[in-house]
Amino acid sequence: MSAITPERVLLILSRLGAGEPVTLNALAEHAAISPEMLATMLPELIDHGVRQRRDGSLRVPGGVDLLDAGRIGADLQAALDEVPHVEVLGVTGSTNDLARARIEAGGSAPAVILAEAQTAGRGRRGRAWSSPVASNVYLSQVEALPGGLEAASGLSLATGVAVAEAIEEVAPVTVTLKWPNDLLVNGRKLGGILVELVTSRAGSHAILGIGINVRVPAYTSTGIDQAWTDLTRAGSARIERNRLAAAIIIHLRRTLEGFRKQGFDADLRRRWQARDPFLDRRVVARSEQGEIRGWGRGIDDRGEFVIETASEVVTVGAGEVSLRLEEKA
Ligand code: BTN
Repeated sequence: MSAITPERVLLILSRLGAGEPVTLNALAEHAAISPEMLATMLPELIDHGVRQRRDGSLRVPGGVDLLDAGRIGADLQAALDEVPHVEVLGVTGSTNDLARARIEAGGSAPAVILAEAQTAGRGRRGRAWSSPVASNVYLSQVEALPGGLEAASGLSLATGVAVAEAIEEVAPVTVTLKWPNDLLVNGRKLGGILVELVTSRAGSHAILGIGINVRVPAYTSTGIDQAWTDLTRAGSARIERNRLAAAIIIHLRRTLEGFRKQGFDADLRRRWQARDPFLDRRVVARSEQGEIRGWGRGIDDRGEFVIETASEVVTVGAGEVSLRLEEKA
């Protein structure tokens, strides 16, 4: 069995958090492993920013960027009238699964759950979501839907707009939205959104699951099966994950306040369209029913994607359709 487990890496990084050097023996003791086992983990720890000094001790220059509910809360206090309850976890299966379990148990679900690592992170269309420890943002926000599930139409697009705007506030990148809500930078996937709906005794809720790559350790990236990037590779020297998480929560609150009153209105549609990399490009939409080729013409007022083929104008819904540029299909 590999010595690298997210729990162990988190223990080690927490001990190195302040940026001060720690001896190999002290670190090993903290992680309840032998110094020899810790030594076998060094290549992976180096991918997490750990450096070994001449005297053998380890440190992370500049300290470790760990999630901190207090720091996120302080940013929220400064920006919002009503501050949602934010819970920060270490290692969990999936923040979306946890949010669902909390809602189904009927308790008052925390508004936002964040984790340092997920061992069963899920993406759209049944895919796994790679969720290495202390590297990225994994966040689930619970939204009550007093109007029932009907009210959720357009919610995932509205979420995409809010998250793209939040990222651009804290990082010098331009984010595009590949329909329905993949977050791309330079044509590569930076993040994704998984919206899940739950109806229970506690009423209807949407879980907005958001994953953003901030600094993916190289050793964890081998299994990712699509062109991806992270904020560090895309050019941001040092992104503080607490600031990014807070910006996402703040932008979601503001955007969804409007969404609750007006739905996916003309303003949201304009903000989404401005980020559409497929507008007026040749696209292919694939589903189990077959494929449609034509010109991408943006989204309609229900958030469906519009394709102009040689003979007609058709719209496709998010469900199981995957959309690509024709030149890459
Ligand atoms: C996608 O496939 O593009 C959606 C990825 C969504 C990942 C996030 S990470 C936080 C939340 N918990 C999960 O298990 N998935 C979502």
